[in-house]
Amino acid sequence: MHGRESAVSVLDANRRDGYTIPSATLYPFQWNWDSAFVAVGLAHVEPEAAKREVRTLLDARWENGMVPQIAFWSDAAGYFPGPEEWRVGTDRTVHADVETSGITQPPMVVPAAEYVYEVTGDEAFRDSVLPDLEAYCEWWLRERSDDGELVWVRHPWATGMDDSPAWVGPLERFDPGEVSYTRKDRKDSELAEQRPTDWDYDRYVALVRQGRELGWDEARLREESPFVVEDVLTNALFVRACESVAALSADAGDEAAAERWRAQAETTRRALSERRFDDDRGLFVSYDLAADEPLPVRSIAGLIPTLAGAPTDEQFARMRETLDEFLAYEYAAPSYVGPEMDYDRYWRGPVWLNTNWLLERGLRRMGADAEADRVRADSLRLLDREGFREYFNPETGSGRGSGRFSWSAALSLAWAA
Ligand code: DGY
Repeated sequence: MHGRESAVSVLDANRRDGYTIPSATLYPFQWNWDSAFVAVGLAHVEPEAAKREVRTLLDARWENGMVPQIAFWSDAAGYFPGPEEWRVGTDRTVHADVETSGITQPPMVVPAAEYVYEVTGDEAFRDSVLPDLEAYCEWWLRERSDDGELVWVRHPWATGMDDSPAWVGPLERFDPGEVSYTRKDRKDSELAEQRPTDWDYDRYVALVRQGRELGWDEARLREESPFVVEDVLTNALFVRACESVAALSADAGDEAAAERWRAQAETTRRALSERRFDDDRGLFVSYDLAADEPLPVRSIAGLIPTLAGAPTDEQFARMRETLDEFLAYEYAAPSYVGPEMDYDRYWRGPVWLNTNWLLERGLRRMGADAEADRVRADSLRLLDREGFREYFNPETGSGRGSGRFSWSAALSLAWAA
């Protein structure tokens, strides 16, 4: 039985003081886009907790506008890299003194906040979060865009899809040297097979150490980091974030702000369509700004620009052929399809429910209801079969990674609503 009651009990058990940890066994702090998906689910069952989830995450926002990937609100053990590795300090945040990581994650919190507002209609909540959401969007444009159109990230962890084969190219191009550290994520040998490899981790850690050596200075990191990537999933969510700030601003009576963010959404949407569509592969592909070349792989990230309404009709007709490849598995939709596919390992092939939720909504925006229904039905079958696992083998449906995973529980509530 993996119904509403058990989903709520997972979320209650994972709740700390004003936020929900993604998993008690693997991720014991507040994570950025995890909290966003959690808020979406909670909006339907515990609206006060949903609002607080978003508010607490925004309380970790940096003075420059960045909402960090991790907020270390407690001193929980069992996770690497913790605050002693990131060495960000507590001076950068505006609302609270809290240690954070030095990177962000896809800006899902902005559309999630709009979602929570739509469900609750709480204007005080809207007015409390809107300035932080707008500051976050400003930050993306000021610190993370070369052209005011597309935005970039500088760590695979910031994409949320850590070991996606899309990042192998840029990671291969640099030598991390001797990096010594102790991983804490491989709790047993089975989990070790389902987590990113040491080859990936050496590079993740080297990039963190470079960031801290450069004092998290964005301009220097833009010049010196070997990993500077325009990720198509991040850009799709950035379009949605701009649309959400526009909608919330209009609702609050600020028509000038609404107009500005509508125009920005349109600019980024057009840039995605004109510059990041790969006609040969039939989907959007990310771009390596350090090497100045595209990263042409079939990652589910390349289907998510549907959520931003980015593909033209002609592009979407081509995408449908690629979509069929993602739907050819027993359980849709794998995170990656291609030569390095691994059904059991993290973002190299398993099905994740957050990308399924985004894809379903994207397909509906494009009018592809039959395909959207399929993604939804397979997500529900997986939940029914295996419960709130972190990810799933696309052929057998077996649950992988952590159990009692918060966004899986939360999105089951959103699907049931
Ligand atoms: C991890 O530690 O595996 C997370 O994916 C980082 O966000």
